[in-house]
Amino acid sequence: MRKVVLYSACSIDNYIARKDGAIDWLFSDSHYGYFEFLATIDTTLMGNKTYQQILSFDGEFPYKDLNNFAFTRKKDQKDTDYVKIISKDIEGFVKELKAQKGKTIWLIGGGEINSILLEAGLIDEMVLSIHPIILGEGIPLFAGNPSQSDFILSECKTFPSGLVQLFLQKKLKE
Ligand SMILES: NC(=O)c1ccc[n+]([C@@H]2O[C@H](COP(=O)([O-])OP(=O)(O)OC[C@H]3O[C@@H](n4cnc5c(N)ncnc54)[C@H](OP(=O)(O)O)[C@@H]3O)[C@@H](O)[C@H]2O)c1
Repeated sequence: MRKVVLYSACSIDNYIARKDGAIDWLFSDSHYGYFEFLATIDTTLMGNKTYQQILSFDGEFPYKDLNNFAFTRKKDQKDTDYVKIISKDIEGFVKELKAQKGKTIWLIGGGEINSILLEAGLIDEMVLSIHPIILGEGIPLFAGNPSQSDFILSECKTFPSGLVQLFLQKKLKE
């Protein structure tokens, strides 16, 4: 089984974007291990809101060399050159994907999709880059009120900028 890793940046108060979706507050002074992480994956998963935001950015689609999947409830949204649209059961789809051969699967987010996969027990690891900022309001890392899930901290990296990176692994049931 290959792993699903939620690799995401958040604020101290646990938001991944401002209320309007803006991510202007994310540090861009360094890559914080992003390229090392990218070398471990071959697949990305994202909610349609995150996907639409990526499409709105200037420049080419950033994950052209990866297998990319975007989730929507819409039945008429078409695949594009680099992204397959999935409108069927997310949980079943991700289970099938994990059973296939390949590298690690990057759960990009956002908060709605993160919660669905967390509740389904399908997030194996998390790498959270916590930025030293309180946004006060915004889009949460996990939408709604997910039930308790236990993780084990395997590593914690600190950076001179104040960013703290937590490496967490899902605690297996005893
Ligand atoms: N800081 C970071 O590292 C980071 C990372 C990723 C994203 N983000 C931010 O997160 C924000 C978006 O997060 P979000 O929570 O609002 O949205 P999201 O999780 O990216 O996408 C939500 C969308 O997913 C689809 N969806 C939800 N439940 C579904 C289901 N059961 N079956 C099929 N499709 C389903 C729906 O698409 P339809 O409406 O099309 O049906 C829904 O609108 C963006 O602003 C982005 O910047 C930040």
